[in-house]
Amino acid sequence: MTQKDVLGLRDLSAADITEILDLGMNMKKLLRQNIKKLPHLQGKSVTTLFYENSTRTRCSFELAAKYMGAHVVNIAAATSSVQKGETLVDTGKTLDAMRNDVIVIRHPMGGAPKLLAETVKAHVVNAGDGMNEHPSQALLDMLTMREHFGGIAGLKVAILGDISHSRVAKSNLFGLTKLGAEVRMFAPRTLLPTAIDKMGAKVCASREEAVSGADVVMGLRIQLERQHAGNFPSLGEYAKYYGVNEGVLRAAKPNAIVMHPGPVNRGVELTSALIDGDMSRIEDQVLSGIAVRMAILFLLTKEEV
Ligand code: CP
Repeated sequence: MTQKDVLGLRDLSAADITEILDLGMNMKKLLRQNIKKLPHLQGKSVTTLFYENSTRTRCSFELAAKYMGAHVVNIAAATSSVQKGETLVDTGKTLDAMRNDVIVIRHPMGGAPKLLAETVKAHVVNAGDGMNEHPSQALLDMLTMREHFGGIAGLKVAILGDISHSRVAKSNLFGLTKLGAEVRMFAPRTLLPTAIDKMGAKVCASREEAVSGADVVMGLRIQLERQHAGNFPSLGEYAKYYGVNEGVLRAAKPNAIVMHPGPVNRGVELTSALIDGDMSRIEDQVLSGIAVRMAILFLLTKEEV
């Protein structure tokens, strides 16, 4: 990989995405064998800098770095000098002065990781910035699909839920279309960005149209923390008219898989039966998350080994 940073899949080439997925597949095989002591990041320092809550992303970046022998520091903005008024740029300069090799950042403002990347010598990985991108999530989703189906090209991927506020939807759209998949999207009009078709998505008029013949059915969380009033009447009505249930899923291909980046609003985007059912790959996505983040961290730093 030639890039200094991983800020989004809009700017990553198909070749770079494939290189990450190839290595991610190998890392996942090692994790399945319970191999959690590798030398790839020995002598390197990785800091996670989170201005928003996280369970999966922060924890899996930490484990990925530790499994490969890195020193890891975790900073939550809520308990750091950010609370004393320190700017992102000054925080970045401080972390750079400490000789960090990689900074993994989550921030509520789109573009914050780019600003940090322009400030620091360390490699910067975007762990989710506002409504912009969440590249490592899309890469782990793609790894999960590739492992199940043997490839990405030609897959029909239906993404349903709060697409407007979703950085996961955008990163998946960029990554999946670069590798030759068809990405269908369905949401209430109030939760669908107007230009999403110009970005390569096939916008569907109903959940049935989106799911019909799909290989992958991905639910997206209704982001209650980012909603303005009136986007939909209630969670109950969202589930009834826009959510994916067993009846809707019957239109997908027989070997289709159900995915969700998490955290899930159970019974809203997907029914509990689908979340816990045989077609669900939600827990497998979590394992893919560590594997793909191991691949990202190694590929960013390997030239310096
Ligand atoms: N999918 C995801 O980003 O989850 P977290 O918010 O728990 O990191």
